[in-house]
Amino acid sequence: MRTIKSFVRRNGRMTCAQQLAFKNLWPMYGIDINDGTLDFQTIFGRNAPTVLEIGFGNGEALVTIALDKPEVNFIGVDVYESGTGALFNILQEKNIMNVRVIHKDVMMLLSGIIPPHSLLHVYIYFPDPWPKKKHRKRRLLQTDFLDLIKRVLVPNGYLHFATDWQDYARHAQAVLSQHPDFKVVLDNTQIPNYCPRPTTKFYRKALQLGHVITDLNYQVV
Ligand SMILES: C[S@@+](CC[C@H](N)C(=O)[O-])C[C@H]1O[C@@H](n2cnc3c(N)ncnc32)[C@H](O)[C@@H]1O
Repeated sequence: MRTIKSFVRRNGRMTCAQQLAFKNLWPMYGIDINDGTLDFQTIFGRNAPTVLEIGFGNGEALVTIALDKPEVNFIGVDVYESGTGALFNILQEKNIMNVRVIHKDVMMLLSGIIPPHSLLHVYIYFPDPWPKKKHRKRRLLQTDFLDLIKRVLVPNGYLHFATDWQDYARHAQAVLSQHPDFKVVLDNTQIPNYCPRPTTKFYRKALQLGHVITDLNYQVV
């Protein structure tokens, strides 16, 4: 497994409300990683299609899509504590029952903890772009990452990736199109249970900066 991290731990102060939510609401929305693989049926108490968002930040997209698709299970993975606390507060306030959160590096989840062929979609919205040349190896989307995504997606499952960094978009497109197990999806209206990408903090930042946003949809073949 890759040892180089795709994130930097942010030391931003958590508000009291975020700290309390993180601690008190963890038993309700958090998934503890113990031994073995996760059992989504037990976690959600139902058998339903399951979608993973990697790097949910403050959880804005998860809230929007979970409200839009109550019949789908959503798992968010991030290492950012303040964002997780903020998300927990909104989940409780809006009584959203179809979201659970894992607070870990996604790389270790993809290689074993998430069961094989268990996810309908994987969403990655505005991952850390690592624009400097010497940092590019930190980018999440690389061939080894796609091998792991293929392992967890159901046959014909989908990966949706969005970035506002043109160099990362070109890199992602090249890596995806060279991967033998992924094919591009040009018409996203054909994707079952598809959620259009909601507005997020990093999407708004990108718009303010006048960046061009690239959305890529690929399907496992
Ligand atoms: C630039 S932010 C984007 C947040 C959100 N998707 C948005 O659009 O506002 C990227 C997020 O990915 C998370 N992240 C990066 N690498 C990760 C990894 N290996 N495992 C889990 N989360 C990761 C970071 O902690 C951060 O919250």
